[in-house]
Amino acid sequence: MRNSFTRFIAGRKHPAAEPDGDLIALLDHVQKACKAIARLAAQGALKKPATHNLGVKARGEEQMLLDVLANSAMISGGEESGQLCGMLSEIPEWRRCGRYLLVFDPLDGSSNIDVDMTVGTIFSILRAPEGVTEPGIGAFLQPGMQQVAAGYAIYGPATMLVMSLGAGADAFTLDPDSGSFILTHPNLRIRETAREFAVNASNRRFWELPVRRYFDECIEGAAGPRGVDFNMRWIGSLVAEVHRILIRGGVFLYPRDSKDPEKADRLRLIYEANPMAMLVEQAGGAASTGRQRILEIIPHELHQRIPVVLGARLEVERLVRYHEAYDRGEDIIFEAPLFHSRSLFRSM
Ligand code: F6P
Repeated sequence: MRNSFTRFIAGRKHPAAEPDGDLIALLDHVQKACKAIARLAAQGALKKPATHNLGVKARGEEQMLLDVLANSAMISGGEESGQLCGMLSEIPEWRRCGRYLLVFDPLDGSSNIDVDMTVGTIFSILRAPEGVTEPGIGAFLQPGMQQVAAGYAIYGPATMLVMSLGAGADAFTLDPDSGSFILTHPNLRIRETAREFAVNASNRRFWELPVRRYFDECIEGAAGPRGVDFNMRWIGSLVAEVHRILIRGGVFLYPRDSKDPEKADRLRLIYEANPMAMLVEQAGGAASTGRQRILEIIPHELHQRIPVVLGARLEVERLVRYHEAYDRGEDIIFEAPLFHSRSLFRSM
């Protein structure tokens, strides 16, 4: 028999990750909201205003009407449910009453909407701190280690829901005929080695040296210290990059850059990096800023941004080593325009 998302969640009996009734109801709300967003996204140019830039910015990001509609889809239903204590979204909003906090990015990668490319919804569920009935900012400032569940929906050629309750990560595909998410990729695993990386290479000159070193070595491929050729992908949607890595491996970087000092880091800790870090770790990969494990960061503000390196464990560890060497002052990179980048130290 096909294992639907609803049956899978209800039947989850892992000692470390058995959802209670409230969490099951909350996850049911999330999956229904994701289906509604998938329907909205699929209307594309037929629902023209949805792809229109509203010309307003929320937290420095351009908003599309579809961003706002997706946000409403996540909120409506959630606000009446007794399970929620609060909600935090890229578009500011919260409610109160129950035991859990739901944080989400309703439409990640929204610059992809008007070109009909992959977008997604990222979510994370935290426990409301003991005794909190009306959550203030502090309630949401929990390290990613404390996430009870995390996941995303991806609106690509197929709509999929990928989720972890803290004991592995599983992926479900939306069956358009039955309208149910069906378990299609149980127990996702990320290979510890990788030959594919994803980064916005146009920012290269603004990166810190350890990141440039890693990137340049990948580009040098078989002719460089890594001794093998790499492939590169960049979709411009975190959900799509992480999904590719969960399915076929690789490493993703959105490192710190000096292009805009106001926005040195790109990705949001609480509702982008943390849920993705949980999924990746649960699939055997690693997630770091380059200097710290993402899930251990104690947030100091709701919309905090951090550098992100995630995916194949050995590649992430290599990047961490490069940062350590650089911070110790050991690794000096000479850049000569005619002779590429050359590091004093060979690849470790
Ligand atoms: O949330 C930010 C985001 O849209 C991510 O989904 C994506 O990885 C990144 O920004 C794309 O950045 P860039 O504009 O540099 O391609």
